[in-house]
Amino acid sequence: MFLSYAIKLSKRWKIILFTLCALILLGHLWILAYPRPSLISNHNPNSLPPMDKVNKEENVITQIEEELPTPEKKSILFGFGGFLSKLPKLQYDFGPEPIEFTEFREKRREAIKKSFIHGWKGYKTYALGHDELRPLSNKPKNPFGGWGATMIDSLSTMLIMELTDEFLSVIPRLHKINFKVDEEISVFESTIRYLGGFLSAYELSDRKHDILLQKANKLAQELLPAFDTPSGLPHHLWNPLKNKPNNDETLIAEVGTIQLEFMMLSQLTGNPIYGQKAQAITDYLDNMGYEHGLYIQGLFPTVINVQRGHFKDAISTFGAMGDSAFEYFLKEYLLMNGAVPQYGQMYIRSIKNMKKYMLRQVPGYDLLMLPPFDTQYKTHRDAMDHLTCFVPGMLAMGSKTFNEPEDMEIAKGLLETCVYMYRITSTGLSPESWVISNTESYNPLTFNKTKNDLAKLRDWWYEDNKTVINQTYTSQEENKSGYVIDYELPLVRERPRSLYFGDKRYMLRPETIESLFILYRMTGDQKYQEYGWEIYKAIEKWCKTKSAYAAIRNVDVNLTANNTNIEFNQIDSMESFLFAETFKYLYLLFSPPEIVSLDKFIFNTEAHPFVRKQWNWSRILKGEGE
Ligand SMILES: *[C@@H]1O[C@H](CO)[C@@H](O)[C@H](O)[C@H]1NC(C)=O
Ligand SMILES: *[C@@H]1O[C@H](CO)[C@@H](O)[C@H](O)[C@H]1NC(C)=O
Ligand SMILES: *[C@@H]1O[C@H](CO)[C@@H](O)[C@H](O)[C@H]1NC(C)=O
Ligand SMILES: *[C@@H]1O[C@H](CO)[C@@H](O)[C@H](O)[C@H]1NC(C)=O
Ligand SMILES: *[C@@H]1O[C@H](CO)[C@@H](O)[C@H](O)[C@H]1NC(C)=O
Ligand SMILES: *[C@@H]1O[C@H](CO)[C@@H](O)[C@H](O)[C@H]1NC(C)=O
Ligand SMILES: *[C@@H]1O[C@H](CO)[C@@H](O)[C@H](O)[C@H]1NC(C)=O
Repeated sequence: MFLSYAIKLSKRWKIILFTLCALILLGHLWILAYPRPSLISNHNPNSLPPMDKVNKEENVITQIEEELPTPEKKSILFGFGGFLSKLPKLQYDFGPEPIEFTEFREKRREAIKKSFIHGWKGYKTYALGHDELRPLSNKPKNPFGGWGATMIDSLSTMLIMELTDEFLSVIPRLHKINFKVDEEISVFESTIRYLGGFLSAYELSDRKHDILLQKANKLAQELLPAFDTPSGLPHHLWNPLKNKPNNDETLIAEVGTIQLEFMMLSQLTGNPIYGQKAQAITDYLDNMGYEHGLYIQGLFPTVINVQRGHFKDAISTFGAMGDSAFEYFLKEYLLMNGAVPQYGQMYIRSIKNMKKYMLRQVPGYDLLMLPPFDTQYKTHRDAMDHLTCFVPGMLAMGSKTFNEPEDMEIAKGLLETCVYMYRITSTGLSPESWVISNTESYNPLTFNKTKNDLAKLRDWWYEDNKTVINQTYTSQEENKSGYVIDYELPLVRERPRSLYFGDKRYMLRPETIESLFILYRMTGDQKYQEYGWEIYKAIEKWCKTKSAYAAIRNVDVNLTANNTNIEFNQIDSMESFLFAETFKYLYLLFSPPEIVSLDKFIFNTEAHPFVRKQWNWSRILKGEGE
């Protein structure tokens, strides 16, 4: 761009320009040769005074400054990616931030970091090396093989929060992990939490700790036999010691959510076997049809038999048991910067039919519902679960990637629903699931309109749909990047009459915060930060325990009756995704946009970031390396 302009300029201007460039270059060289720490740390928002109480090293600031004499040495976390690919940029172009707002935002970010440290300290004190800490009884719990799920899931977050000492303190413990246990291991959970955790930490720590890659490789070796089925679809539960499965049934989410990690492992080790397994599953899913129990293209049902390779039911869902399979089609496409069109096509097919069949609206409200759908009888259910709340983030990224502005509007509508479920309860936390029965099929022409609105609009909404759709969507130019310190969110509207909560627990889940983070980074709309802050405050109030954080029993507890009984409402459970995802997405929601940018990283479904690159996938599958 710059060069092509220069060519058109007259000779005199060229000389002036040349002189200017030379001066700028000299200036840069000067800075490179004589770095001024104060100058550089201004551009390094992570170097603010650390409130890291666990961290005993006092000289963190100077240390960072010394390590950053040149831009090349800047941490891998920074930057906006290369844009070498043809894919559109995802992140919003944030304008310069006023200094008062920076201080305001950084305070929030530090508070979130302190919360992470509080939880980590509890785990470290009472349960280090175990999968989880029980946050009320302070006893350990081992649902994931006992390999230290919380410890591994925390690594990438520690690197992002610059808790380097804590990160380094975990590294020696990795040698002790023995994957060959006589236990039924979930292939899916092991992949997203452990494999994803190792690989992301390996990349984020600049590939300096080989043990991380070795452990990933070792774990994947233990899991590989689970893939030896006629369909190539892996078993759900696998015993690494006895080398046998539990049964032949698995879920679409479990076979469709190992691809990113297995691809990354082949990319990093040069061993093609993992990528081949992942690609075989993708090809299998891509080629399924009616004869496999697939009634609608792209809307995969839930339960699948790995021996026969057929679906056992017809219910398709973007919530529990289906969710991340759809997420991964898009993320595989983005991870490789669009190198393999197949993944993008599979994503588009699923989303097209999701919009056509599954999406529902609540009359008179700006709420959208995405409940499970029976693809055989074409009937919908009324319930939606919190796990579904990753969908807004996915749709928003897909919307930019494939130029589908409507998907961004749907993302916003769905996210309003997810946030609504937090804001409408007495604790400010969302239930696990909710039901709204008076919904109708999504129709962009009538969405968010009352009967009154519709009466007024009657004249045009039967006209050519395309014209109207264009009117609806072009008005939504994203332009909200405000830096308002006393931002006021609108009051929450009264409950739709048919709303009730199915499962009233809040399990410390991240999905809504994940979507808030992505929508914030993509639209610049400060509203999403404010929603996230409300949620964070509710977590602090209701979930915090003496040693860590706890899930809660009833998000809609009667405050008059049980006002002070916070502990009674807590459950003795803290899943590792609190550290991997919930705190990480909150922290990033309040971080400068050049830290872990969506244009440079793709998050696995456990929020472990992988660097996006241009891949030569066929080379990697052939074992010819990167
Ligand atoms: C829904 O309609 C209200 C009132 O017209 C408007 O303020 C709001 O932004 C709309 N919400 C969405 C998601 O379109
Ligand atoms: C407009 O959309 C509605 C609902 O999606 C459909 O029933 C109707 O046939 C469409 N009208 C035209 C003119 O395409
Ligand atoms: C509506 O938008 C689409 C895509 O942006 C464009 O191809 C089409 O011509 C537009 N239609 C009208 C009537 O403006
Ligand atoms: C963006 O916002 C500014 C200030 O509110 C306004 O002046 C400008 O016209 C807006 N741009 C667009 C494209 O809406
Ligand atoms: C209040 O707490 C008691 C136990 O202390 C519980 O049994 C009861 O269901 C709670 N009431 C409400 C309205 O949540
Ligand atoms: C909450 O508890 C108070 C006191 O026990 C009771 O008067 C009130 O009706 C309860 N509210 C609801 C919504 O159940
Ligand atoms: C990918 O690598 C293969 C060799 O395995 C080569 O033939 C092909 O040209 C490469 N593709 C691209 C796009 O570089």
